[in-house]
Amino acid sequence: MSSERTKIGIGVIGFGWMGQAHSRSYLRIPTLFPDRTFDPELVIISDSVADRVDGAVADFGFREGTTDWNDVIAHPDVDVVCVCAPNMLHEPIAIAAAQANKHVFCEKPVGGTPDQTVRVEAASRAAGVITGVGYNYRWAPLVQYAKGLVEAGTLGQITNYRGRFFSMYGSDPMGLLSWRFMLGEAGHGVSSDILSHSIDLAHMLVGPIAKVVGTGHTQIPERPLPKPGGTHYDLGQPGDPTGTVENEDYFGAMVVFENGARGVFEASRTIVGPESQCAFEIYGTLGSVRWNLETMNELDVFLVGDEARGYTKVFGGDRYPYHGNFVPGDANSIGYEDLKTIEDFEFLSSVAAGRQHNPGFAEAVDYVSVQAALLKSWESEKWEPVIGIGDPA
Ligand SMILES: NC(=O)c1ccc[n+]([C@@H]2O[C@H](COP(=O)([O-])OP(=O)(O)OC[C@H]3O[C@@H](n4cnc5c(N)ncnc54)[C@H](O)[C@@H]3O)[C@@H](O)[C@H]2O)c1
Repeated sequence: MSSERTKIGIGVIGFGWMGQAHSRSYLRIPTLFPDRTFDPELVIISDSVADRVDGAVADFGFREGTTDWNDVIAHPDVDVVCVCAPNMLHEPIAIAAAQANKHVFCEKPVGGTPDQTVRVEAASRAAGVITGVGYNYRWAPLVQYAKGLVEAGTLGQITNYRGRFFSMYGSDPMGLLSWRFMLGEAGHGVSSDILSHSIDLAHMLVGPIAKVVGTGHTQIPERPLPKPGGTHYDLGQPGDPTGTVENEDYFGAMVVFENGARGVFEASRTIVGPESQCAFEIYGTLGSVRWNLETMNELDVFLVGDEARGYTKVFGGDRYPYHGNFVPGDANSIGYEDLKTIEDFEFLSSVAAGRQHNPGFAEAVDYVSVQAALLKSWESEKWEPVIGIGDPA
């Protein structure tokens, strides 16, 4: 079997949280997916912090390391470039990679602004490379099961959807002014960072969105300045020098889907209480389901006609997609990083098969088309239609 597998050389750019998570995934895919069609090889890592590069080579077994991401693009053994640098670097890196004929996996949201996403998609389409985006929550086994219930008509006609991503990563005013809070490095705030996950889930579970009305807000306008080499979970001290938060902490929206369903979305990085609540509720004429990342191994299901009326709590287990690749049986949990591994397995399977991947950059453009309408609505204070902003050329 192994001789029939395609070798896929990987170059990773950015070795923070996501760069490390993807690298661990590539390393353990062979131990989890024996039926795979490919074997990933960690060829070269790049980070602007030299210590991180050294750690990646020593601990993860990358063959080479560099502080210049151009070396990753130019490397002849690299087939796939995995872009895990801050958002505003996505565009130059992803376009250079596509133009060098590399397949590109880019962490969400693919650029910090809708215009950047459109340019990246157009360039990669012109180059004919395979693209993937890090919308990992869709790969949770029970989310896939919920998708199956919708597609099979078990929930009837979908009438309502609620999506939220409430995170506490910015709720402490002493949380440092990391790249996520800066226009020049992140682009927009939560409408790019975490609301985009909710838009991905809604598109997958219900379908495209036709019109929106929304508003944003920056709740904590000043934060302590960051220290080199830290992460966005680090804290400053009272009296530290501060700087201005340049993008939004909160976004709320009402939407109408193309199929007529009504939806409500909220995203906040400064809310107190929910630690990492990427969650949705789907309501149909025959039933409803609700899921929350904080309890990702559980799905609540309500079906009209059940004699015992009420939500049934379904526990994750190996009868749902992918779960058995990690642990056998029922109610033995899987975790956050397992979703990244499923994501990487699916993307590399697409690369090995030579087929375009979903979600790829085309889907990222669909999502930033919704974001662009939301940003317009924030300014106009009116309902705005979602107009596909992709470049047809
Ligand atoms: N899918 C998810 O659930 C998820 C979660 C977190 C982050 N993300 C996305 O992943 C990306 C990275 O976020 P993160 O949390 O890993 O950030 P991070 O700050 O932990 O890591 C970013 C890394 O990029 C490095 N870097 C900065 N400039 C660079 C350059 N010029 N060349 C090479 N490396 C450079 C930094 O030194 C750092 O190590 C972002 O686009 C973010 O939106 C996705």
